[in-house]
Amino acid sequence: MKKIIKGSFILSSLLLLLSSCYNDNEYDLYPFSGTQCDSTNVSYSKTIVPIVTANCSVCHSTARHDGNVITETWAGLSTVANNGKLWGGVNWEAGYVNMPNGGSKLLPCDLGKIKNWINQGAPNN
Ligand code: HEC
Repeated sequence: MKKIIKGSFILSSLLLLLSSCYNDNEYDLYPFSGTQCDSTNVSYSKTIVPIVTANCSVCHSTARHDGNVITETWAGLSTVANNGKLWGGVNWEAGYVNMPNGGSKLLPCDLGKIKNWINQGAPNN
């Protein structure tokens, strides 16, 4: 039963993803490249802060820090960036709790930006 529910969830997510592709633009079709989604040119302050402020910091503020994770500060975010939990969480990998908790997965473009920032060593730039 659990499996079926999970399966249909995945299916409907796929359908959602697919249907968004027909909406038109390069951004949806080629999320990791092109001028509308530049996931290569990333900095903590300009790129990462807006993403986590909009999607994470309501639960991961310094005051609330759900799961003992703080995304509101560079110190907190770089800690989970460097120990693998940030990527595991946002990319919904096995063994991690899906983030945003109870929400939808981040857009591929934002995931690409986060991935690139992590790969650069999560600098405070
Ligand atoms: C609605 C509240 C909420 C939001 C929004 C949210 N989180 Fe979480 N997060 C939690 C809770 C609760 C936990 C602890 C889950 C647990 O341990 O079962 C958690 C745990 C985590 C962990 C640790 C995961 C692990 O497997 O140890 C990371 C990393 C994390 N969140 C990152 C994020 C990021 C990045 C975002 C935004 C993309 C985000 N969270 C959005 C509530 C939230």
